[in-house]
Amino acid sequence: MQHTDPNPDPNPIPARTPTPPGTPPGSPLDAASHAPELVARLRAAGCVFAEDEARLLCRTARGADELADMAARRIAGEPLEHVLGWAAFAGLRIAVGPGVFVPRPRTEFLVRRAAACVPEGAAPLVVDLCCGSGAVGAALLAACGGRGELHAVDIDPAAVRCARRNLAGPGRHVHEGDLFAPLPTRLRGRVEVLTANVPYVPTGDLPLLPPEARDHEPRPALDGGPDGLALLRRVAAQAPEWLAPGGTLLTETSSAQAPEAARVLAGAGLEVTVTTEEEPPATVLAARRP
Ligand SMILES: C[S@@+](CC[C@H](N)C(=O)[O-])C[C@H]1O[C@@H](n2cnc3c(N)ncnc32)[C@H](O)[C@@H]1O
Repeated sequence: MQHTDPNPDPNPIPARTPTPPGTPPGSPLDAASHAPELVARLRAAGCVFAEDEARLLCRTARGADELADMAARRIAGEPLEHVLGWAAFAGLRIAVGPGVFVPRPRTEFLVRRAAACVPEGAAPLVVDLCCGSGAVGAALLAACGGRGELHAVDIDPAAVRCARRNLAGPGRHVHEGDLFAPLPTRLRGRVEVLTANVPYVPTGDLPLLPPEARDHEPRPALDGGPDGLALLRRVAAQAPEWLAPGGTLLTETSSAQAPEAARVLAGAGLEVTVTTEEEPPATVLAARRP
């Protein structure tokens, strides 16, 4: 469980799992009395942040039996977030279950770049393709003060179920299907912010992913085709007809993929800006419809 990720980008577990706002201060289990043994077992299993993980497990479990079960799953290699049932993302607690992609801390940069496209006080029309748990859309609307209309899409029914939990409420819609296909046609030419954290691991690199990703996240959530950009090419081809004039598509790639991704987006007639963040390393392309 030590993270020896050879691919700099698809890191399945936050380097450090912070306690998100909303975590109850007390818990049914006393972390102090359970933690020392649990920390030792987690550490022996290779968990780098064993103390943090033990504290989170103790806070989340509703009793000793559940804690034992959760600890066993984590020690067996399940992602911490799948065991907890949630991931901390952009200050939110995002529900995430087995078989659903765990939102990565670096993707918070994509959310910040998307939020920067929204004028102060505006209520944007947002589409989030490849939404997974719905983390990006949930965080973006939260950054917009809850204003806006969101349409999130995923092809995987498990992800759609999860996204519906995270995106409940008026103005939030989750659709099941392939990229733009399930979107209402009335959105054509009107989308102001289009986020698409598509799968972008090159197929040949999938075996290099850490076991948490390889064994516990669905392959379609990771596999971006021969050079990792197959899904992005499909998104780029259709984005101009869905974006409003001045609307922006935002997507994440590895730093190595960014030049080719920029060519793809520019080839679709979009004005591309590439921005990076150092910690955690993140590359985001913003592609604006003129
Ligand atoms: C890298 S994950 C990103 C999930 C989420 N946006 C996030 O950042 O946490 C990619 C997601 O794309 C979905 N996906 C893959 N191919 C798709 C397609 N053709 N249409 C819609 N969703 C797709 C997968 O099911 C997966 O949930």
